[in-house]
Amino acid sequence: MDIQAAVKTRRSIRNFSSRPVPEESIRELIESAIWSPSWGNTQPWEIAVITGDALEQYRQQNREALLSGKPAAPEIPFPETWPDRHFTRYKDVGKSVLTALAIARDDQEGRLQYYSRMYSFFNAQALLLTMVDKTLPVEYPLLDIGLFLQSFFLLAHEKGLGTIALAASVNYPDILRKLFPIPENHRIVMGAALGWPDPDDPVNAFERKRDDVGDTVQWIQSC
Ligand SMILES: Cc1cc2nc3c(=O)[nH]c(=O)nc-3n(C[C@H](O)[C@H](O)[C@H](O)COP(=O)(O)O)c2cc1C
Repeated sequence: MDIQAAVKTRRSIRNFSSRPVPEESIRELIESAIWSPSWGNTQPWEIAVITGDALEQYRQQNREALLSGKPAAPEIPFPETWPDRHFTRYKDVGKSVLTALAIARDDQEGRLQYYSRMYSFFNAQALLLTMVDKTLPVEYPLLDIGLFLQSFFLLAHEKGLGTIALAASVNYPDILRKLFPIPENHRIVMGAALGWPDPDDPVNAFERKRDDVGDTVQWIQSC
């Protein structure tokens, strides 16, 4: 797969099959993805790979926390408000997902079931947890982690694996910290689900949108 095709055909996967992903494959993906750039080659990403029984326990507890109404408390706060143009895109992708799943806007039960699948990591068979040292100011390392994740996503895509960055997998860090030996000095940044995509589910095939380059790029040639 050439890079252009990889970048343009990678998409977030929201239904994974139960086929496991071999640990060796995940290791190879990480070994390649760590060739991503980072500020001063600091490579500030700390990574945990959660699979097997550990993942099943976390999946269940994360889902139960959502269903019990537990408030989200991520270690990197997410934005509460966006500029209108961002919020419109956010709402649009939500609509596309629900339409693909034939869940009506006012179907509260259907939406809750969908969120419960999201908080179950869409049945992914591996979850990558990215973290940074708590002594660092987060901004620069977050750029580096974003670069790492995109490399990881593209490399996985090339192998036919699916991925999705999943804020829903890091909203209850207390559960993660209770279940797993996550070092106290690590701040949990973002989770990424990995697995084999279910090719028949329309939620993995709806048309995605991007703005025109003309709407986002300023070309500056003279003062
Ligand atoms: C940092 C980050 C967190 C995300 N968290 C979620 C999430 O919790 N649930 C979800 O369904 N999608 C999540 N996504 C996926 C985005 O919705 C998706 O990347 C976006 O709609 C663009 O679609 P594409 O990845 O298919 O191109 C997240 C993406 C990023 C980059």
